[in-house]
Amino acid sequence: MTFPNAQSPPQHHSHPHPVAPLRSQAWFADRGKNGFIARSHLRATGLSSEAFDGRPVVGIANSWSDLTPCNAHLRDIAEAVRRGVLAAGGLPMEFPTMSLGEPLMRPSTMLYRNLMSMDVEETLRANPIDAVVLLGGCDKTTPAQLMGAASVDLPTVVVTGGPMVSGSFRGCPIGSGTDLWHFSEEVRAGRMTSAAFDEAEAGIHRSPGHCMTMGTASTMACLTEALGLQLPGGAAYQAVGSSRRRIAERSGQLAVQMARAGAPRISEVLTRDAFENAARVNAAIGGSTNAALHLLALAGRVDVGFSLSDLDRLARDVPLLVDLKPSGTYLMAEFEEAGGVPALLHELLPLLHTEPISVDGRTLGALAQLGQTHRREIIRSLDDPVMPADTGTAVLHGNLCPQGAVIKQSAADPALLTHRGRAVVFDDVDAYLRAAEDPDLDVDADSVLIVRNCGPRGYPGMPEIGNLPIPLRLLKAGVTDMVRISDARMSGTSFGTVVLHVAPEAAAGGPLALIHDGDTVVLDVPARRLDVEIDDDELERRRAEWSPPPPAHVGGWTDLYVEHVLQADQGADLDFLVGTRGHDVPRAPF
Ligand code: FES
Repeated sequence: MTFPNAQSPPQHHSHPHPVAPLRSQAWFADRGKNGFIARSHLRATGLSSEAFDGRPVVGIANSWSDLTPCNAHLRDIAEAVRRGVLAAGGLPMEFPTMSLGEPLMRPSTMLYRNLMSMDVEETLRANPIDAVVLLGGCDKTTPAQLMGAASVDLPTVVVTGGPMVSGSFRGCPIGSGTDLWHFSEEVRAGRMTSAAFDEAEAGIHRSPGHCMTMGTASTMACLTEALGLQLPGGAAYQAVGSSRRRIAERSGQLAVQMARAGAPRISEVLTRDAFENAARVNAAIGGSTNAALHLLALAGRVDVGFSLSDLDRLARDVPLLVDLKPSGTYLMAEFEEAGGVPALLHELLPLLHTEPISVDGRTLGALAQLGQTHRREIIRSLDDPVMPADTGTAVLHGNLCPQGAVIKQSAADPALLTHRGRAVVFDDVDAYLRAAEDPDLDVDADSVLIVRNCGPRGYPGMPEIGNLPIPLRLLKAGVTDMVRISDARMSGTSFGTVVLHVAPEAAAGGPLALIHDGDTVVLDVPARRLDVEIDDDELERRRAEWSPPPPAHVGGWTDLYVEHVLQADQGADLDFLVGTRGHDVPRAPF
C-alpha cells in the first residue's frame, strides 16, 4: 500500500474544530512494547511504517454478507471508500460487522438489530479508529450501525447501499415487497397462476441493493441523509451506479477530514432539531412505520429526548410529497432522477429546522437550497402534494394501547380510519394463518382482526406479520382491506389499515392480552384513539384472571433479549444499551 503525503488535506467545508489529537495514536505513537505489538502486526499485512506517521485511521464498517443479498455489493463500495481515504492521506481499516438479511433470517431481523449494534459499538471502541464510514443497506443494518456508532460517538459518515434496479414483470415496473403482497393475494384468490408468480419472482429483484420501494431500507437511507449523516444525494443513488461509487469515495475523503478535526462527532449531528427534521421527512416520503422504532432507539443512544408523541405532532402538518410505492406509484430510480432527498428538502424547507449541521459542516438549510426537483410528478410541492397533510404515520393511544400504537395512514383505506367492529382474536400468528384459509371462519369485512403475542418479548423479536392476509372467503368476495391490530411490525413495503407496535405488548400484560372475541373495538385515527368498549372494572377483572404466557427459554442471545428489551414506544432497544458510552478505552495491559 502506498500513501500520499499525510499532511495534504482534502478539499472540504469548514468544521468548527480545526485539529484534534488522533485517538489511534494512543496505539501507534507508543515507542515501547505496546506500540511495537500494534505496528509490527499490522506491518505483517504489508503496511509500511508510513502507515503510522500520524495518519487518521478510518474504519470502514462493512455489513457485506452472502446471507444479505441486499448488501452483496458493499465490498465494491468499500473499495471506493478506501480510495477516498487513501487519497486524503488516511489509513483505511475495513472490518466486517454482523449482517442482517431480511429475506433469510428467522424469526426476525429485529431480534438481532440490537445485537448487531453491540458488535459495531464494541468493535469501534476497542480498536484504533479515529472516524468511521458505515456501510449498511438492508432494513436493520443501517439503524443497527447507527445505534452502535452513536453509543461510541466518533466522527461518523454513512454510505447506504442504495436501491436495486427496478423490478419488471411483463413490461410493467414492479416494486419489492409491495407487488409481492399484491401477487400473493392474487394467487390465493385464484386470479394469478403459479407460473405467472414464478415469472414475477425472476423479475422483481434484478441487482444487488436494497428494496427499491419506499420500504424500511429506503426510508432509513432517506432519514440518514435528512439527519445529516450521509452526503447529499446518497440515499437515492442506485446500488449499481457510478454515482454511488463516487459518493463513497468522497465519503472516505470526508472521514479523513473529520478524523483530523475530531468533528463533527455523531452526537453533534444528531441533535433534537435533526430528529425533528427526520420525523417531518418521514411523513413527506410516506416512510416505513419501522422508522418510528429506529428513530426512537437512535435518539435514546444519544440521549435526545424524543418520543412517539413527537413523531405524531411533527408529522401532522406534513403532506405526502413523494409518489413512491407503497403509498404511491413510482420507485427509487425515479426518485433519484427527480432529485432525491436534496430536492425533497428544498420542497419541505418551510417546515424544517435549517441550523442542524451535516457531516461535511454545511447546514441543512444550505443543503436544501441546492436541491432541485426535475420530475414534478414524483417529488411534489407543498402546494400540490400527493396527499394532504396528516397522512403519515399516526400515533394512537387509548385503553387498548396505553403506551401507544402506530398506523401508516397513507397506506390505509381512508374509509377505515374511523371504524367500529367486532374483535376476532388470535393468540398467535400461526393460529390466524390457519384460520384465514377456513371458509367457515366467523368473520366479515367489518370485523377487526387481532393477533397478539407478536411483540418484542412475546414472539420474541417483533416480526413483520402485522399486515395479516385477508381471510380467504372475504378475499374471494373482493375485500381488499380490513382493520388489523397487533403488537407486531409490518414491512415498510406493505399497505392496509394496519395498527402496529401496540404497547405494552400482550406478553408484557398490555390490554391486548385481555381482549375477547366479540368485544367492540373503536378505531378513530383523526382523534388518535384506539379503544375497546370495556369499562375499567371489566378490564381489571380480566387482568386478575390473566397469566403471562410461559417464557420460551431457548437460552443464549434470545433469553438476554427477552429479559432486557424495551417496549415499542421506546424503540425496542435493550435497557442496558440506551445512552452514549463514549470511546475511551483502557490502555493495553502489557
Ligand atoms: Fe433487504 Fe428489503 S429485503 S432491503
